Amino acid sequence: MAKYKIALLPGDGIGRDVMDAAMVVLDALSLDAEYIEGDVGWEFWKKEGNPLPDRTIELLKSTDCCLFGAITSKPKDEAEAELAPELRGKGYKYYSPIVRIRQEFDLYANIRPCKSYKGNPLNYRDDIDLVIFRENTEGLYSGVEFHPVPESLRAAIDEHSEKMRRFGDVSNEDMAISMRIFTRRGCQRIVRMAFEYARKYGRKHVTVAEKPNVIRETSGMMIREARKISQEYPDIEYDEVNIDAMAMRLIKNPQDYDIIVTSNMFGDILSDEAAQLVGGLGFSPSANIGDNYALFEPTHGSAPKYAGMYKVNPTAMLLCVKMMLDWLGERDMAMNLERAIAKVIEEGRVRTYDMGGNAGTLDVANEVVKKLE
Ligand code: IPM
Ligand code: MG
Repeated sequence: MAKYKIALLPGDGIGRDVMDAAMVVLDALSLDAEYIEGDVGWEFWKKEGNPLPDRTIELLKSTDCCLFGAITSKPKDEAEAELAPELRGKGYKYYSPIVRIRQEFDLYANIRPCKSYKGNPLNYRDDIDLVIFRENTEGLYSGVEFHPVPESLRAAIDEHSEKMRRFGDVSNEDMAISMRIFTRRGCQRIVRMAFEYARKYGRKHVTVAEKPNVIRETSGMMIREARKISQEYPDIEYDEVNIDAMAMRLIKNPQDYDIIVTSNMFGDILSDEAAQLVGGLGFSPSANIGDNYALFEPTHGSAPKYAGMYKVNPTAMLLCVKMMLDWLGERDMAMNLERAIAKVIEEGRVRTYDMGGNAGTLDVANEVVKKLE
């Protein structure tokens, strides 16, 4: 029996292209693993009314971790229109499969490193090396949303919040509510994981980016918990920055940041911004980590117009493989892979279109293989 069992979910669009690149590298590294592919994505929404079939959830449960390609998500009306005719009007609701996996498997930390690799012509600066810790299961993406707003909910909020009364002249139909739910546990565990990570990888500084001056209760809870936890790590510097200022400082002096912790939506936005500083989403991997399971996915989307053309940059996906190896405890293999990726970037002979080259997705993967030690 193989040492590891790994689920592969290529998903939509270029998910397959980058997954193939990942397999080139994994095969070359001879990781002792069994790989099992599963169904996820738009195709399954259209024909089954479910982008994440139960059999896929079962598959994930039977594996150690998952490597994930990309997902196409569309707003409500477009999703309904693309459903197979016999499934339409039957109450099927599209939801993002990746968000659902994160919640179902309690993958509460989304770790997104952004590092400017030497020689990357797309770097905004050459000295950026930061890691965003995005809370991944709650906040504004909890999925607790209402439209129209049920009367009983409305009445309950009215009773407890004076602020709600300001909207007294708005009908339930003309109002939508998405709840930003934070839990103490949720705040504590993302902050703690960031500090533990800092210790493990020799990082010196944790910054929490929230908005406690305005969103007093949710952001406030994050900050209050972070302050307490920071005291257990006197060896690591701690500070707080408001999220709007953080967005600005990421452009102004990104080299000053090390680990940034934030909530779900802020982290979603900030991580796209940070990715752009180090070459764009083609260079930005993510690890979705829980206590018992992990899923690794490039931060980029499914780029449907490039699907199957084997044109896109696989670097983000290869860096996901590196993170996966690290999480599995294969640290040497992970370092070996990262060094090889860095060499290919620095040498600059084999580059995809985003970097001004004309190499294909698999050319880059094969070049990385050549640089493995
Ligand atoms: C991301 C993506 C997802 C998110 C989408 C596809 C649901 O933007 O991983 O950053 O919002 O989390
Ligand atoms: Mg995003």
